[in-house]
Amino acid sequence: MSAEAEKPEPVSQRLRRLLRNPISMAGTALAVVSIANIFLFFLIDLIAERSSPYIGILAYMIAPGFLVCGLALIAFGAWRQRKKLVAGGPEESMPYPRIDLNDPGQRSAVISFVGFLIVFVTLSAAGSYKAFEYTESVQFCGQTCHTVMHPEYTAYQLSPHARVTCVECHVGSGASWYVKSKLSGARQVFAAAFNTFPRPIPTPVHNLRPAQDTCEQCHWPKKFYGAQLKVFTHYSSDEKNTPRQIRMLIKTGGGDPATGAPEGIHWHMNIANEIDYVATDEKRQVIPYIYVKDMQGRVTEYFSQDPNLNKEQVVKQARRRMDCVDCHNRPTHIYIPPDLAVDQSLLARRLDASLPFIKQQAVTALTGDYQTTEGAVQKIAESIPAFYESKYPEIAKSKQLEIRNAVEEVQQIFRRTTFPEMKLNWQTHPNNLGHFYFNGCFRCHDGQHVSAQGKVISKECNICHTLMGQEEGGVSVAAAPKINFQHPVDLGDMTQVNCSDCHSGGNGP
Ligand code: HEC
Ligand code: HEC
Ligand code: HEC
Ligand code: HEC
Ligand code: HEC
Ligand code: HEC
Repeated sequence: MSAEAEKPEPVSQRLRRLLRNPISMAGTALAVVSIANIFLFFLIDLIAERSSPYIGILAYMIAPGFLVCGLALIAFGAWRQRKKLVAGGPEESMPYPRIDLNDPGQRSAVISFVGFLIVFVTLSAAGSYKAFEYTESVQFCGQTCHTVMHPEYTAYQLSPHARVTCVECHVGSGASWYVKSKLSGARQVFAAAFNTFPRPIPTPVHNLRPAQDTCEQCHWPKKFYGAQLKVFTHYSSDEKNTPRQIRMLIKTGGGDPATGAPEGIHWHMNIANEIDYVATDEKRQVIPYIYVKDMQGRVTEYFSQDPNLNKEQVVKQARRRMDCVDCHNRPTHIYIPPDLAVDQSLLARRLDASLPFIKQQAVTALTGDYQTTEGAVQKIAESIPAFYESKYPEIAKSKQLEIRNAVEEVQQIFRRTTFPEMKLNWQTHPNNLGHFYFNGCFRCHDGQHVSAQGKVISKECNICHTLMGQEEGGVSVAAAPKINFQHPVDLGDMTQVNCSDCHSGGNGP
């Protein structure tokens, strides 16, 4: 034993000796690049106008993952080196190069190395930025997790908002939303990776940004005014598929005196009034309590007239401030009920209304109990021709082409509106605009919500719209001065019924 070995080696020197091996060096390189990328993602995240929930995954999960790998490689290399040294094996060391810039050979080597480094870092930065952009894209949100988002994406593409990106409604700026969306983004990726996501993706979205930050960036509530004429066309389920047309002036209204009298549907909800409500079910369909504070600060509380309602308890429950999404809850993911989808196809002549009972047959085929899309598509291809062969053999022969087209159209409707793989259809995601297939406005406007002073949230048929005309099979059944809606079947006082009790959107009226 030499005297030199007795002297304890300084720690830093020993460490350096341990780290001087190819594995640890590769680890160091990986760690440095990861740190640079983390820093970069972080920077993008800070300065980006809108941050994506998924950049967090890159910045705080994937890049750090590489960093950990790098650190692990360093440690592993050092451990192996130590084992070798202890065993007295040949030292696998890589002494540092002595750089002499006066040597032309070395000089060019250094220049190429620095050049390489610059190119590498730039490319890596560009890659990071591209990755960031990708997480912002509709493609990423709608298609990456194909089955998960398939229904939402399909409906979105067919909606008035098909050109608005997902993040414009679902994410935005602001510190608390930033953190929330980061967390939920990470959770979603895990759920998709491990196939633990719920089917269907539940609605409503509890951490959706307030409408002021999303919808109102494009739609300026002060600038709504007037009314709009809407034409509703239905086809009866009879042999002739009799068309029925209703023309209505929908009193959309507005809230700014400068653009017209504050009135109508939009006025009371948004500008100066506050409406809070309590819903007792997950989908916000049952509303026993409503709290209204008007412009002057007067408060009115409405309770549903359910004899079992415990008023003290219901006012204490979590409230929701009404905004755009409480009526427009399906601005883009619109799952059209089969009844309406078939009406639309008949109106657009994609379905031939001269085929007897085509309305009824199409709706029946669409509302079957299907486990898979393929199963449904096949069943549709069998059931519709089978109906005509058995009930109308003449027509089955003379209108072969029309029947074949009808099958294709009904299959298309199914693919657009019903998603058995995600257990999603029009019934799982009710649309709150209107009151025909779902309770919608009638959740509050049912004539059963009364204040202590006896004020009722109105169900009068003319407060929201004015009937302009109504026709059945081309014959007028209601025109001025008889301007009340004429129900095809006499139901007596219409304010005493709920349309969605009978009109389910599927089979039936
Ligand atoms: C015009 C605004 C808007 C756009 C654009 C938009 N969404 Fe939505 N999204 C909503 C609203 C509003 C809801 C439901 C609100 C509620 O009832 O809580 C929703 C709900 C969802 C849900 C929950 C399930 C459901 O249907 O209620 C998913 C998932 C979803 N969106 C994904 C997407 C994806 C993916 C995109 C892009 C392809 C996208 N969204 C684009 C507004 C939008
Ligand atoms: C990035 C801008 C943008 C955002 C954000 C946005 N919209 Fe729109 N919205 C539009 C445009 C543009 C149209 C008109 C589309 C057309 O007529 O083709 C539209 C149309 C509409 C319509 C009329 C639809 C119809 O059937 O004609 C409604 C209702 C609507 N938006 C509600 C909303 C709601 C509710 C939100 C928030 C959840 C929202 N929008 C968010 C741009 C936006
Ligand atoms: C009380 C329910 C309700 C609320 C709250 C509400 N809307 Fe509407 N909105 C309606 C109804 C009903 C219509 C008429 C729709 C129809 O018949 O197609 C409409 C129509 C619209 C239209 C198309 C009408 C036009 O004049 O072109 C837009 C855009 C719109 N709403 C945006 C919004 C925005 C943005 C908000 C939030 C600031 C909002 N709405 C809040 C019920 C509501
Ligand atoms: C969460 C409960 C709630 C829902 C849902 C709701 N409203 Fe209202 N609405 C009210 C309340 C409360 C009032 C009465 C405000 C007051 O005067 O105290 C009101 C008043 C109105 C008025 C003014 C009535 C008048 O006498 O001038 C119109 C129009 C209206 N609502 C349309 C609609 C439409 C259309 C829908 C569906 C798209 C709808 N509301 C959904 C709570 C609701
Ligand atoms: C609180 C407001 C409100 C009240 C009260 C109301 N409606 Fe409506 N109604 C609407 C809205 C909003 C639409 C349009 C929905 C849409 O654009 O899809 C509508 C649509 C309709 C339609 C056309 C539906 C379709 O799809 O063909 C009929 C018919 C109708 N209403 C009849 C009535 C009758 C009858 C009453 C009285 C019992 C009544 N409404 C009371 C808001 C109201
Ligand atoms: C008791 C059940 C019942 C209730 C409640 C009901 N309807 Fe109907 N509705 C029917 C029946 C039955 C038909 C006729 C179907 C046929 O002849 O094809 C019909 C047809 C219609 C049609 C013609 C549409 C079509 O497909 O031919 C409209 C529009 C309509 N109803 C609106 C309403 C409105 C609005 C309300 C609520 C204010 C309402 N109904 C409530 C049973 C009902």
